[in-house]
Amino acid sequence: MSATQTVALVPELGEHRAEGDIERTRHEQSRYGTDPVGAVDHEDEHDEHDEDVDDPLPNETPPRDRSSRIPRHAFVLAALTRSIRLVRVGVLTGGGDCPGLNAVIRAIVRKGERVLGDDVVGFLDAWDGVMDRRTMPLTVESMRGSLPRGGTVLGTRRGSPLDHSDGVERVRSTIHDLGLDGIIVIGGNGSLTVAEILYREHGIPVLGVPKTIDNDIVGTDLTFGFNTAVQIATDAIDRLHTTAESHDRVMVVEVMGRNSGWIATHAGIAGGATVVLVPEHPFDIDQVCERLTRRHSRGRYASIVVVAEGAVPVEGSLPGGPDPEVDRFGHAQLGGIGHIVADEIGRRTGFETRPVLLGHVQRGGTPTAFDRVLSTRFGVAAIDAVHAGAWGSMVALRGSEIVTVPLAEAAGRSRPVDLALFTEVAEIFFA
Ligand code: F6P
Repeated sequence: MSATQTVALVPELGEHRAEGDIERTRHEQSRYGTDPVGAVDHEDEHDEHDEDVDDPLPNETPPRDRSSRIPRHAFVLAALTRSIRLVRVGVLTGGGDCPGLNAVIRAIVRKGERVLGDDVVGFLDAWDGVMDRRTMPLTVESMRGSLPRGGTVLGTRRGSPLDHSDGVERVRSTIHDLGLDGIIVIGGNGSLTVAEILYREHGIPVLGVPKTIDNDIVGTDLTFGFNTAVQIATDAIDRLHTTAESHDRVMVVEVMGRNSGWIATHAGIAGGATVVLVPEHPFDIDQVCERLTRRHSRGRYASIVVVAEGAVPVEGSLPGGPDPEVDRFGHAQLGGIGHIVADEIGRRTGFETRPVLLGHVQRGGTPTAFDRVLSTRFGVAAIDAVHAGAWGSMVALRGSEIVTVPLAEAAGRSRPVDLALFTEVAEIFFA
């Protein structure tokens, strides 16, 4: 096969048919393992997916003979297809990856294809895939086995059409040429803010699904991925307790969360931390050291200090670290405050102190059962919202209900940690 390949993009789209060429590099072909023709030609989809089909989960029944064609929409109720307009919808995952992304996609596809008779098209690498028309078919078969998988089968990137002078027009023509009703954007604060601008200023039909381990999206009580990140951090803290006790040490654990202290507060409470430092409350290093010294003077020895990556010292109380590096999308790379705090605690108290940076471990691997359920509910609600024509909205958890809220509620904002949880619960356990 040559390094690039020219294909007809959407052979079955009638008047939306695009004879335009797309190019796909050898790297992309090996990464996604799909032939671009198959990416949009459903006639061949089953054969291609067979190569990548995983073993089903124990609770999923595999097709009896995987080499045989499963009739498309075999389970669609005839009565439903008569009364519901079928849709053709795109899906992308944007921003940092997060456990539960595949579970959302799987749920969109399951309900879309099997219940509503829809076509679901996946865009590779977030908005880049929309602008460059790089797609993969999303079907129940191709998503089989993806529920417990971390990461995203679609790939993800930062950046948006708004970064390119012709970006919005490229998105618009992709939607038109592929015959899409719109695009479901599974993303965090940045992606949802871009989605809202595309909808409000350019009339692009988008629907949001809130994702991030940081849990900092306004409009939803929870984002999927957060529960998993907290569990990973808590498991790490549990392990650090025993080594800290054995060596009579202070362990300073830095967790993610950007400018919110959700992960730090929840993991700190769940892991029995001695002190938790969050971005919403600038910390006083003298006070932190006093607390540790007091605790140790009572005969306790090991201590765990949880520091959110965005935590900041009270002005003038601690030499600040270097300014964070900013990537080409303007995204500041946080991290490093844990080392500064650990050095300072060791220097001021004389206690042997070690920093531990949990980093991207918190984003990797399988989602917890809770996140699998939340992701699945979000996915089902998203395709329902598409059918309801709720473009410009985002699915959200409010209490125990899944609802839709305007994207404008979330756009350009960040949700701080629940201060009552921090001051009335977490803080009373501080040394
Ligand atoms: O937003 C999720 C998150 O993991 C943050 O907690 C963290 O600051 C950031 O992404 C890290 O981004 P990157 O993967 O680009 O280093």
